[in-house]
Amino acid sequence: MEKIRVVEARKREAIGREAVVEGWVRTRRDSKAGFSFIEINDGSSLGNLQVIADKQLPNYDEQIKTLSVGSSVRVAGTIQESPAKGQATELHATAVELIGDADPASYPLQKKRHSFEFLRTIAHLRPRTNTFGAVARVRNALCRAIHEFFQQEGFLYIHTPIITASDCEGAGEMFRVTTLDPCKTTAAGQGTEDTTPAERAARDFFGRPTYLTVSGQLEAEVYATSLGKVYTFGPTFRAENSNTSRHLAEFWMVEPEMAFFELDDNMELAERFIKHLVREVLASCEEDMQFFNLRIDSSLLETLEQVAEADFQRLSYSEAVEVLERSGEKFEFPIAWGRDLQSEHERYLTEKHFGRPVVLYDYPATIKPFYMRLNDDGRTVRAMDVLVPRVGEIIGGSQREERYDVLLERMQQQGLNPGDYWWYLDLRRYGTVPHSGFGLGLERMVQFVTGMANIRDVIPFPRTPGSAEF
Ligand code: 4AD
Ligand code: MG
Repeated sequence: MEKIRVVEARKREAIGREAVVEGWVRTRRDSKAGFSFIEINDGSSLGNLQVIADKQLPNYDEQIKTLSVGSSVRVAGTIQESPAKGQATELHATAVELIGDADPASYPLQKKRHSFEFLRTIAHLRPRTNTFGAVARVRNALCRAIHEFFQQEGFLYIHTPIITASDCEGAGEMFRVTTLDPCKTTAAGQGTEDTTPAERAARDFFGRPTYLTVSGQLEAEVYATSLGKVYTFGPTFRAENSNTSRHLAEFWMVEPEMAFFELDDNMELAERFIKHLVREVLASCEEDMQFFNLRIDSSLLETLEQVAEADFQRLSYSEAVEVLERSGEKFEFPIAWGRDLQSEHERYLTEKHFGRPVVLYDYPATIKPFYMRLNDDGRTVRAMDVLVPRVGEIIGGSQREERYDVLLERMQQQGLNPGDYWWYLDLRRYGTVPHSGFGLGLERMVQFVTGMANIRDVIPFPRTPGSAEF
């Protein structure tokens, strides 16, 4: 008999087929009429498949009637039209085989709903719940849509390194990568005392200090200034001690980088990109999205449908500061030109003031990294941040400084050693071009489309300060 997945077996077209379905028991109910209803789920859809197991089955009494929640089973039978509401089909079993049982005395996922906090402590079992299954499917759909978008636009997918020697964001939030034993201060077998960090670094695996990457941008610029349009998409690490619902120490970032692109082109691409992702998720994850709308945020679908259609609001940082100053709102962090915007400010702009996604651009040079292109005013740079309701900043990007002398000066101002960035400066010495790019945090995008409040619940195994279980 042919094996099919629950998502196929639930479709009307499957009626009449003989098939084998494998999955985990979500519920079991025994009717007085002499059969059992077993709901099974295999992760292929939010909805379960209802199995009807008759008492005539040879293992009915000793196995089927005692099947517990969480057990794995293989069921063979015929798919028939279901008389019940909310499902088109059901599977009439000719055989139900128990593969692995789950002791109800200890299996943590019984019928009742659990808090997300509790489920974080069992990250190895939480994907078996409706919410985490739905998050995993939506996350997958987003990744597919990300590749689809850039591939259709003629971008090359490139792989930038995870281990790097340069600090892209200049914020000093890097995890050190080393093979030196932190407990030993002398070189193994040599008996010599370390005298300086430089000597110690020279003895290290790469012969220099290395870190986990905070962004693939600088390396993406190398490929963009050779191949035109590229994107990198991978794990990214930040050792920032931010215990918030929007920060992870390990997250995924997608970063397109485009030659011959100025800031306006960059903003236009970012808007089209977000809209594509939203439309794709709405179209391909209908059942999961209905679930989030019902259980997590009842305004979700409406908000997303608006985002997919309406123009994003564009305004400069300076204009945003004026809006915030005039707002009459009491903010925890005072607002003043030259200060970085806090999440409360970003959310006021996108949620309350404009009621749609906002693209802020031309930030003060002093609060942005060295690589952003300096404006003629000498005090702002061609930065852009995309802010969305509930999440705040979802994209950060800029036009890059393509003028050798200006870049060199910016590096020196920010205390960077130009010698460490010789290859980056070379891109400005040989055939330099205006170019731009941005980074979208995948988890913030998953939060945005699912309505999930905490970023720890949209990545399978969250890493945050003080927490790296599994
Ligand atoms: O604004 P960021 O720091 O920009 C960059 O790293 C640029 N080099 C990107 C580029 O231009 N190629 O980060 C980009 C995005 C943020 O807007 C946010 O969505 C996400 O990455 N992000 C985080 N997501 C989760 N946890 C963290 N700690 C994050 N830090 C940034
Ligand atoms: Mg940023």
